[in-house]
Amino acid sequence: MNKDFNYLDEKPALEEIIEHYFEAIFVADSNGQVMLANPAAASILGIPLDKLIGANVSHLVSEGYYDRSTVLEVIKTKKSVMEVLNTKHGKKIVSNSHPLFDDNGNIVMVLSTGVERDIIREFTTTLEREREAKDKYRNEVEYLRDRNLEKDKIVAKSSLMRNVLLQANKIAATDSTVMLYGESGTGKEVIAKYVHRYSHRKNAAFVTVNCAAIPDNLLESELFGYEKGAFTGASNKGKPGLFEIADKGTLFLDEIAELPLFLQPKLLRVIENGEVRKIGATNDKKVDVRLIGATNKNLKKMIADNTFREDLFYRLNVIPITLPPLRNRPEDIVALAEMFLQEYNIKYRFNKYFGPGIVNDLLHYNWPGNVRELKNIIERLFLTTQGDEINSYETGITMPVKENIVKRPEGVDIGKSQYSGNLKEVLGQVEKQYIEQVIQECNGSINEAAQKLGIHRSVLFRKRKGHDDANKQHVVE
Ligand SMILES: Nc1ncnc2c1ncn2[C@@H]1O[C@H](COP(=O)(O)OP(=O)(O)OP(=O)(O)O)[C@@H](O)[C@H]1O
Ligand SMILES: [Mg+2]
Repeated sequence: MNKDFNYLDEKPALEEIIEHYFEAIFVADSNGQVMLANPAAASILGIPLDKLIGANVSHLVSEGYYDRSTVLEVIKTKKSVMEVLNTKHGKKIVSNSHPLFDDNGNIVMVLSTGVERDIIREFTTTLEREREAKDKYRNEVEYLRDRNLEKDKIVAKSSLMRNVLLQANKIAATDSTVMLYGESGTGKEVIAKYVHRYSHRKNAAFVTVNCAAIPDNLLESELFGYEKGAFTGASNKGKPGLFEIADKGTLFLDEIAELPLFLQPKLLRVIENGEVRKIGATNDKKVDVRLIGATNKNLKKMIADNTFREDLFYRLNVIPITLPPLRNRPEDIVALAEMFLQEYNIKYRFNKYFGPGIVNDLLHYNWPGNVRELKNIIERLFLTTQGDEINSYETGITMPVKENIVKRPEGVDIGKSQYSGNLKEVLGQVEKQYIEQVIQECNGSINEAAQKLGIHRSVLFRKRKGHDDANKQHVVE
């Protein structure tokens, strides 16, 4: 504050402030006689201003303008007092009175302010509501973090995957529930986000909940939220559920087969009525959410085993989409491997590339972990290769696990249609094929393969290099 400010000099300004202040202000002397009051005080108490000024508060009480006086209590107790008063006109006023003392400790005046309780209530509820909204958005932001939907590039070179995308694209605009099936790592979440991105809901939240990751007893409150004080340990503010957070957007129920049986009818009710009820609440709330479920389990079998409700299954299974396993889409294996390699090149500022042998390795593995496994293996190959050319046999990574190798027929098939050229060329082709087969059987270990083939490892390297060069020439031709 300005040090030169002297309130006596500024008296007209102060009077102006008091006159226009929105709270009721009045000042009484030590006998309770009103010395000063503003129009807000007159209006809140329902007493004309000229009658209020000069009146004694004890008379105002006895005349029934209001039921108790904080000024009188301050005079009696010499302490600040805050009380709720009831006025003649049925208003409730939160009144605050403070004593001002002289040097001898005697009260010289009492300063009072008052506000209608309903105004405070309204203000606090608005504040609470704003806080709740802020919490909701904070939750939403947390759920959306690291889920940059635009960032995801989807590889779909194979006709199988193209069909999936086409199907997803066609139904994105509807509000129908989608069920995504497929082995782990086939891209169910990728497709769920794709559906959201191409729907009219794209600007609202995409919320993922992994039913397997959240303990059963917490899942209900995560999904539906709870009212304040709904149970011991509940936050006293209550909590919005994920359905509410996903309102106008998409809720992705991942691993939906893990939804506990006791929650299944509750989910069914939400789907059927479009309303959720928070734990501890007495009424339902409308929500507008598109549901996408995903599982790698066989729900039909679970229904037979009584671990998944049939009625819920039919409600969810409106648009079923099945992601094909990676081993059935070789075009995607190569394209995805290239894409991941480029991502790592950019990330680590390298210019690595696949040597000719590796593509063959990738194509002959059966990828039980699908795209996720491919991504991990490319990263490992990338990080463990010294030079720019990535070769599985150089890195020592034993990628193709024996039991996962797609079994080729025993022996070498030299049927007419498979080989062409002069004897030397055919022998070269047979040699190449057999060498690659043995290397795979030895889980990519060159030392072991060389031993099995009865040649020195340097000879094996040379031979493979020769095959690769021959391949390149073949491509150039
Ligand atoms: N077609 C694709 N194009 C690009 N990336 C893909 C594709 N399919 C899957 N991915 C990537 O593979 C990884 C696994 O995919 P996602 O999480 O969608 O699989 P999922 O089927 O949900 O697996 P899970 O059943 O284990 O949850 C992710 O990193 C994802 O980005
Ligand atoms: Mg997933």
